[in-house]
Amino acid sequence: MNKIEITVEYFEYQFEELSNEEQELIQQSKLAREKAYAPNSNFKVGAALKLDNGQFILGNNQENIASPSGLCAERVALFHYGSMNLKNEITAIAVCANNQTNDYYEIIKPCGGCLQVLVEYETKQTRAIDIYLYSNDGRVWKTSGVKNLLPLMFKF
Ligand code: THU
Repeated sequence: MNKIEITVEYFEYQFEELSNEEQELIQQSKLAREKAYAPNSNFKVGAALKLDNGQFILGNNQENIASPSGLCAERVALFHYGSMNLKNEITAIAVCANNQTNDYYEIIKPCGGCLQVLVEYETKQTRAIDIYLYSNDGRVWKTSGVKNLLPLMFKF
């Protein structure tokens, strides 16, 4: 029997420590969050992708009265990107969230389904995607590459 350990890494920043470009990406995710449709959970999530030409692609969670029919913010943004069949690669994604009482101070962590979708787009391109996970208290977790959030991603 072998014990195998997997190491992941991420860095915690304060929002003000980030570059202007990084801050702008997070601001874009907040803009996306404002337009979330979350009548069931009252939990609004925004996601912003940045492409290598500087373009932003936004997504937010879209819920439905038939709740399994809804979709997370990250996948809304990623599938929008995929549907455009662009040559440009994704350089970064930022994600933020809030609840109805505006006191959600967790770092938002993308669900496993969104990470699996993200890793597939990352695998199709040449570069790792920088991931920024924002908390409303100003903390930001940054990691480079989906492997740090989903080390045992599905592949075949
Ligand atoms: N949600 C996201 O949009 N992204 C995540 O990473 C986790 C959860 C959404 C789905 C649902 O609309 C709401 O948050 C509550 O689960």
